Formats: sequence, structure tokens, C-alpha cells
Amino acid sequence: MESFVVKGGKKLSGKVQISGAKNAVMPIITACAMVGGEVILHNVPDSIDPLTLLDVMKKLGMKIKQLSPGTWSLSSNGDLKSVVEGAQTEKIRGSQTLLGAILARKGEVTLQALGGCRIGARPIDLHVKGLKALGAEVEMVKGSVFAKVSGRLKGANIFLDFPSVGATENILLAASTAEGQTIIENAAAEPEIEDLAKFLRLCGAKISGDGTKTIQIEGVESLKGTHHSIIPDRIETGTFMIGAVMAGGDVLIEQALPSTVDSLIFKLQEAGVIVRIENHTSIRIRNTSRPKAINIKTLPYPGFPTDLQPQTTAMCSIADGVSVISESVFESRFGAVPELVRMGAEIQAEGHSVIVKGVEKLQGTEVIAPDLRGAVALVLAGLCAEGTTKVVGAHHADRGYEKFEMKLKAIGADIERGAENQTNQHSEEQ
Ligand code: UD1
Repeated sequence: MESFVVKGGKKLSGKVQISGAKNAVMPIITACAMVGGEVILHNVPDSIDPLTLLDVMKKLGMKIKQLSPGTWSLSSNGDLKSVVEGAQTEKIRGSQTLLGAILARKGEVTLQALGGCRIGARPIDLHVKGLKALGAEVEMVKGSVFAKVSGRLKGANIFLDFPSVGATENILLAASTAEGQTIIENAAAEPEIEDLAKFLRLCGAKISGDGTKTIQIEGVESLKGTHHSIIPDRIETGTFMIGAVMAGGDVLIEQALPSTVDSLIFKLQEAGVIVRIENHTSIRIRNTSRPKAINIKTLPYPGFPTDLQPQTTAMCSIADGVSVISESVFESRFGAVPELVRMGAEIQAEGHSVIVKGVEKLQGTEVIAPDLRGAVALVLAGLCAEGTTKVVGAHHADRGYEKFEMKLKAIGADIERGAENQTNQHSEEQ
């Protein structure tokens, strides 16, 4: 297993370029299964989840070609398999939208497994309810999901009990080529939903209201090929913003979409950090002292993103004062907390919250990455810790970050990738 070895204490300075958003590219890749003709996607991040999904699409029968770094061509003549094997998808959550996409294209789909980080139960009842409302028969047996429809799916009014990102995406895909109108009420309003809707519109879909709580879809007969560039990754942006605060220094984060990280910008300003937006696409972070303690509660967009909660918890562990971090999106997303405590953080769990009493310094030690965002949170902790921090499980970060340690190195971090030859007691517990 690979690890990140971080020597703490180096200030960060310089420029870092943000890649395309993992959580936007995943549903867009699956949407390509619905398109007749060639799709060219630009700004596709070179991280493991999108690459795995491209491979899944290839195995389903799509023609996939990399044209240049970050640019891929995807096409199919509709002759696709409708069974998505578990071995291919058990590690990636982003395969969940194959459900809506393949159902819409083929009239039936079997998804044998759904992966992703272990951060809660992650049921798919809302996806199932939505697809059933559109006329599909859906069954779940031993972790596999089967859906089929005789004839075309039919538009419907759907109310989501919770604005689930994945459920909104699945319904959006399935409704795009359904007969008649669909309205999704209490839809997720994440920027990744807007990017998916923008892509589908370029393919000929009739969608409005994306980015708000009510999305209208007027079903069209078919979708055609197009070119699309994936939006910048707001979670990668936020991760580097928090990293610059924790390590201290002066970092310009380029090729970003600042409006998508507003909630973090406000919170960092509250913590005393100087945040400047430059040229609409860059964010400059300057920090020379310990941030002040802040309270956050994760919420659906535009609330504070759950995907930045572990990184923010790491930041609060060195803040001046006591912070309260409440997680309201996933039930168990504090996997990095015991590891931060091993580094000297003072964090106490209280139901769905943690109370973080900031300490002056963390101490480097060996820690285990619990999941994707937890892995990068521990690396950020290592940047400001005394001594060396070894974060075992670099593969978690590789799932959603392109060249993570190289980007950090380029702005002055002392970080290397190391191979873990021996399995010690601590890592066996994973
Ligand atoms: C997506 C993102 C993930 C992010 C999350 C919330 C991808 C690949 N992943 O995950 O990085 O953390 O949005 O911003 O885009 N829920 C139900 N029933 C359902 C669906 C969801 O109860 O049918 C619950 C989940 O268990 C969770 C909450 O709703 O507690 C949010 O889940 P959801 O928004 O669906 O997240 P994902 O699409 O899985």
C-alpha cells in the first residue's frame, strides 16, 4: 500500500491549477451511454475514479479514446450491455448514475454493486422511488439493482425527501429522454448537477431550473453528440485553500470557480484568513498565523460541503479556540478524527458533531487514511505538524485528486510518495 510522507513546517507559496471536478465528470461519463454519436469531453481529471469509470464504459461496449491529456472521446451505437458487473463498480460511487443512463438507453439495467467511501449507509431508496415514478420496475436483490421499463419512460412529478445529488442525477438522466414532462421538487442544487444539465442541454435535452430546488425536464426522443468542458473541482479548490491556511503562506489557486466555494470563503474569513478573488477564476489565500476557531454544519449546496468537512476539522484542530463541526449529510464521516487525535489533536465526539479544542501544534506520526477526503485531511495536518507524518493509504486520495502530492510539492510542501512494504498492526485494522 502506498503512503504519503510529509515533513511538516514548510510554508506554501506559488500557484496551483485546479483540475476538472470528479463529481461532475462521473455522471457526465455515464450520460454518454445515452448519446447517439461522439462526445468529446475536455478537462477530465486524471484521477482513478473517472479512469475506472471510463474502463467500465468500454467494457459495456462504448468506444473510448484519449485524444490528449484531459480530453476524451466517447461514442456508442447503442449496442451496449445492460449488465454492469460488480467487480468493476464496487469501488466507485460515481457509477450509480449508470442506473438512469442505461435504463433510458436500453430499457433495462442491472447494477451489481455500488462502491464509494464508507461514510454512512448510503441507501438508494430515493433513486429507486424516482425511477419507479417514471414508470420503471425496480428490484433490489442482495446488493444488486435491476430496473426495466416496457416501452419509453414517462415523465412525472417527483418530490425528493432529501435533495440527494445521486438521485437528482439519476432522475435527470432518465427523464431527459422520457415521454412528456418531469418536475423534480426538492432537487439537489450542487454545481455538479448544473454541469450535468448543461452537458445534457448541449446534447439536445430540454432542462431548466438546474441549480435551484425545482428542475423541469421536457423529454426528447434522443440525444446527440457534443463537446463539453468539465467544471473546476470545488472540493479540490477547497482542499488547497485549507492547506494554504494550515501550512501558512501565500497561494494562488487558479482555474477555479470561486462562487462554488462561497461557503468556505466566508468561513475562512471568519477564521481571520485573507481571501481574495482575482480575475474571476483565481483565489488567493494568505495566512501567517493560527486560524481562529469556527463552527460549521454541513448541508446540501449552497450550504457547507460535507466533502470539505474532514479537511476543515483538521484545520480546526490547530485553530485558536474551540470549534464545533456538525455533520448533517452523512452519518459517519469522522473517520479521520481518531488519526488526528493520534497526532495530538483534542477532539471529542458528540453525536453527529465533534468538538475541537485547537492545539498549538500537531505531532507527526503514522496515520491511516480512512477514505478519500479523510486521506487529504491527514496530509494537510501533516503539512503543519512537527516532524514527519506518514499517511498510509494514498490510493484513497488518488481516487479523486489528480497529482495531489505533486501539486503540493510545486508550492513548497515537503511530501513524497512511499511504498508500504510491511503491514503493521495499525494498518491491519483497516
Ligand atoms: C455525492 C458525491 C459525494 C458527496 C455527496 C453529498 C458523487 C460521486 N459523490 O454522493 O462526494 O459527499 O454527493 O454532497 O457525486 N440518501 C438517502 N437515500 C438515497 C440517496 C441518498 O437516504 O436514495 C442520503 C445518503 O445516505 C446521505 C445523503 O442522502 O446521507 C446525501 O447523499 P447524496 O446527496 O445522494 O450523495 P451521493 O450522490 O451518494
